[in-house]
Amino acid sequence: SSIAKNATSSLGRTIKTVTIIGGGLMGSGIAQVAAESNHKVILVDQKQEFLDKSLNIIQTSLKRVIKKKFDKDQQGGEKYLNDVNGRIQTSLNLEESLQSTDLVIEAIVENLGIKQKLFKQIDQIAPKHTILTSNTSSLPITEIVQDVKRQDKVGGLHFFNPVPVMKLLEVIRTSSTSDETFQTLLAFGKALGKTTVSCKDTPGFIVNRLLVPYMIEAIHMIERGDATPEDIDTAMKLGAGYPMGPIELLDYVGLDTSKYIVDGWKKRFPDDASFKTSELLNKIVGEGKFGKKTGAGFYKYS
Ligand code: CAA
Ligand code: NAD
Repeated sequence: SSIAKNATSSLGRTIKTVTIIGGGLMGSGIAQVAAESNHKVILVDQKQEFLDKSLNIIQTSLKRVIKKKFDKDQQGGEKYLNDVNGRIQTSLNLEESLQSTDLVIEAIVENLGIKQKLFKQIDQIAPKHTILTSNTSSLPITEIVQDVKRQDKVGGLHFFNPVPVMKLLEVIRTSSTSDETFQTLLAFGKALGKTTVSCKDTPGFIVNRLLVPYMIEAIHMIERGDATPEDIDTAMKLGAGYPMGPIELLDYVGLDTSKYIVDGWKKRFPDDASFKTSELLNKIVGEGKFGKKTGAGFYKYS
């Protein structure tokens, strides 16, 4: 009933401070939208040069936002930029970044062991009330947080690239996530201006479970010589209404990240025909071409 629903939503807490770990493609976008929606943000990475790069990505994106929001109001635009920037702090020190945070969003490399180690550390340092989440594309939240003691305060917050533009947020609850944590995460998504959907802790959640096998099948079409990358992309844009074709989108997502996703699934589900790897993908990643973020992938970027 609606009364029961209201009773549940009143369980949620308000998130004021967010610590984002990993300031790459995703972490920088998440930091931006969190700061734009009035949250205090602490963005953590391993090297100053990575944090500098994140701040650059955020500035470029904010300029696009401001151009639209404050078309003829230069002063308003400058104030907005200063206010948003004023809410973003960067840090190389994990311990300090967690001191008084309400929510952690992990957005580091897609590697189970590295994520598990990080979550164990975070759990030991973060205040008791802090909720711990991962932006993983493909790994089970339950396994990422296996060494975390606060099992009621974990979950998945899966954003989409480019975060400032894509309207969806997948909110994942494990079998241990409490109602209070879940409601808090849904309310946080709403505060960011995202539409939330929820999904159980299943491989790829909703979007990637459908999207990744489709993108990998497109690489297999190239490998078989069925069609060129350009024709595959044109076909899916003009024939199916996708904003980007699958090959373009792979470059946009990151070929390294895409390879981690499919390798992980293939290893975990060797008998499931929908999870495939690709020799061509391995070859391109082996050449250090990770897609748009490194200037080359299936296509070249200047
Ligand atoms: N920051 C701020 N604004 C941005 C932006 C950014 N990084 N990128 C684009 N925009 C804005 C532009 O300013 C523009 O705004 P207006 O139309 O209001 O003027 C709008 O977005 C469209 O941008 P462009 O005109 O430059 O280009 P476009 O129309 O081709 O759109 C796109 C770009 C939004 C990226 C579009 O191509 C798209 O939706 N592509 C598919 C993206 C997608 O599928 N993402 C999901 C990937 S899967 C994933 O993320 C999950 C995972 O785990 C792997
Ligand atoms: P990325 O390679 O652009 O960025 C990862 C960042 O994490 C790098 O800056 C790296 O220096 C940093 N990092 C690595 N280990 C760290 C550690 N121990 N502590 C602090 N920082 C660390 O990757 P990305 O594309 O932003 O992906 C990040 C996560 O988000 C992955 O789990 C990925 O699967 C997921 N994801 C990616 C996309 C996408 O389209 N690329 C979409 C949704 C989710």
